Amino acid sequence: MFGATGDLARRMLLPSLYGLDSDGLLAPDLNIVGTARSDLDADGFRTLARQALEEYLPDGFFEEEVAARFLARLDYVPLNINDEGSFAKLAKAVGDAEPRLAIFLSTAPSLFEPVIAGLASVGLASDNVRLALEKPLGADLASSREINDAVAARFSEDRIFRVDHYLGKEPVQNLLALRFANLMFEPLWNSAHIDHVQITVSESVGLEGRVDYYEGAGALRDMVQNHMLQLLALVAMEPPTDFAPTAVRDEKVKILRSLHPITAATVADDSVIGQYGAGVIDGVSVPGYDGELGRDSRTETFVALRAQIDNWRWNGVPFYLRTGKRLAARHSEIFIQFKCIPFSIFAAGGAKTLPNKLIISLQPEETIGLAMMAKTPGLDRKGIRLREIPLDLGRNDAFADHRRRIAYERLLLDLLEGNPTLFVRRDEVEAQWQWIDGIRAALASADIKPEPYAAGTRGPTAASDFAKRHEFAWHD
Ligand code: BG6
Repeated sequence: MFGATGDLARRMLLPSLYGLDSDGLLAPDLNIVGTARSDLDADGFRTLARQALEEYLPDGFFEEEVAARFLARLDYVPLNINDEGSFAKLAKAVGDAEPRLAIFLSTAPSLFEPVIAGLASVGLASDNVRLALEKPLGADLASSREINDAVAARFSEDRIFRVDHYLGKEPVQNLLALRFANLMFEPLWNSAHIDHVQITVSESVGLEGRVDYYEGAGALRDMVQNHMLQLLALVAMEPPTDFAPTAVRDEKVKILRSLHPITAATVADDSVIGQYGAGVIDGVSVPGYDGELGRDSRTETFVALRAQIDNWRWNGVPFYLRTGKRLAARHSEIFIQFKCIPFSIFAAGGAKTLPNKLIISLQPEETIGLAMMAKTPGLDRKGIRLREIPLDLGRNDAFADHRRRIAYERLLLDLLEGNPTLFVRRDEVEAQWQWIDGIRAALASADIKPEPYAAGTRGPTAASDFAKRHEFAWHD
């Protein structure tokens, strides 16, 4: 595990591996060798890992017995990227496990190339080894190609596991079950019956100390290029021939390649970008983006887009994407609005019918709901009254004995077992960048600056104007 002392390792990777261990899913002889620049020894790393577990595991999940077993698996080798000797020490720590080795790179992408060269120099990049890569995989198509080429020089595509942690989220996989394990939705899943789709990832956090990274990225590259386009691809893709890596990823990439380019001529109509100013979240005053950064910036912390898919199924169905930092609440969902019924027999009596909606909520709760019209109980002497009622399709109560997992648990287990279905293939990443690069170039050439919004709000007023202009209502 490269980057073993970093934020991702402490918050997600170590707690996820602990979760797998606690469920008996790690082989008894599985060892975890952490490596990073910090000059720790194995005991120091175990102390850091224990603190991370205590801090980040859900309440009541930490058990001394499991922790003792888990921490005993950990080893640590400090790494100086320029020193071949430290790679030799790493190889020694890996020992004869190389035929079953999985490497997780949670480091800055600028280190991918030297790390891979170092691994190769000590025989840790052989045909047996799997390599997982964390985002950001580049800052645009060109830099992403460079990274992909450097990695491909040593690892074949079937051994590269590009992480998009949204694919490890339970409701995201449930979307596939909903679409492809039920008869009812698929016949309606097209432009004849769906009015539009909204994908929202709203966050209340700000920069969380990642100032340098975020300033060079912004919301488009940090969230839309990866997580939101993956969600869009899963909503929009054709049924794959099976739930296997090639079939699923073939279908996703077709969608990503069908995204209609947003150009300098259309960008003002098809997008809104924003940046948060000072405000109040949960009763606490927070500084604006410039304040957190310490200087003026044009980086967007909010983006809303109208994506269109140029294919038979989706022609004319807008996919509205919206994400931002320091918004009123943490709330992520996929919202599918069906078309109105063609004619209401109840309208004469004054009853209003609303279109059906399917809402797959990813955060804070993992739920799936269908908004349906139902009759309000009564004698209806003045005509039938209708009311929109939510149908709970997620049935969390039916699965109450299952604990809610961290997305990385699923992904780490798949990595260890060699199943890349929920990882992103090179052609997908590149299609994602191609579309995002087009938007960034369009924003620059149209000289569009981020609209200010106060922290703790729903984003810039321009996002409401955007919805009015496109004749839909954001689902909040
Ligand atoms: C990361 C982004 O990929 O996803 C972060 O870099 C963001 O900026 C995070 O906060 C959101 O993930 P989640 O699982 O909390 O929605």
